[in-house]
Amino acid sequence: MKGKDLLSVSDLSSEDINLLMSDTMVMKASGWLSSLSSKSLALLFEKPSLRTRTSFEVAIRQLGGQAIYLSPNEVGLGKRESAADIARVLNRYVDAIVARTFSHSTLEEIACHTDIPVINALSDKEHPCQALADLFTIYEKKGDLKGLTLAYIGDGNNVAQSLLLAAALTGLNFRIASPKDYTIDKKMLSIAKGYVIDSGATIFVTEKPTQAVINADIVYTDVWTSMGQEAESQKRRQVFTEYQINGKLIALAKEDAILMHPLPAHHGEEVAEGVLDSPASVVFDQAENRMHLTKSLLISIMGGLEVPLPGY
Ligand code: CP
Ligand code: NVA
Repeated sequence: MKGKDLLSVSDLSSEDINLLMSDTMVMKASGWLSSLSSKSLALLFEKPSLRTRTSFEVAIRQLGGQAIYLSPNEVGLGKRESAADIARVLNRYVDAIVARTFSHSTLEEIACHTDIPVINALSDKEHPCQALADLFTIYEKKGDLKGLTLAYIGDGNNVAQSLLLAAALTGLNFRIASPKDYTIDKKMLSIAKGYVIDSGATIFVTEKPTQAVINADIVYTDVWTSMGQEAESQKRRQVFTEYQINGKLIALAKEDAILMHPLPAHHGEEVAEGVLDSPASVVFDQAENRMHLTKSLLISIMGGLEVPLPGY
């Protein structure tokens, strides 16, 4: 993965993902000696963030490098200056760009005008860093990915699309229940269907949450209104009412099923009040794992000397 962009999960192979899982396991258990000293990262964000920004900043610092955060107002992506010009300037200063954009095409434009790696920190189409950390959390909690079943309930959004691709590549069965007109993009489904020929995963798309959740190992949801869709929030609250994760729905999953959400959550909307505090919920481990996964991702993309601590 050295030197490559990560705009989509489809930029990775199943071997890349498996390696990231095992590297992250070591990283989380042992820490990692400074291997990216003298490397700089630009964090170019058009939307707010807690986890992604903080995990990238902490990760690069722990690896000996530094991050420069460029806030939405500061740079004025596409307003004060074109994405292409911003990309060409940052290309002269830093070793990689981590960008969170409204439109996925802005990311592609940035990648097109740089020869340093560009990492998708969330676009309207995908959230690959989240999906990779989620796979790691499942791997950590369940000991495997292959043959397990993840039920995603809710909007077929950026988080769902990256998860679908990551699951299909690694043999994790993926079910999604969304209202008509709010499901996964057809093109994404067809890419995922290509992956399952090798991985053996199954994909099931339905409008009925109960059909998706029955006997699932993982129950996953995300907000009904993503950043940038605020004008639709009232309508979406109505359309998604039947898609709330509550005790009744979780009871249909396996007894030891885990509950996942990328956060931020709207308690009382996509998850019933208190559900994320239940013993099945792993959402804060999931948030923590963003940082561990980011460290192995940065090392594999930005290079650097990999020096595990003694004993590994
Ligand atoms: N899950 C996630 O990406 O959170 P932030 O939007 O806070 O970065
Ligand atoms: N789907 C959400 C994810 C936030 C991490 C959004 O795009 O706002």
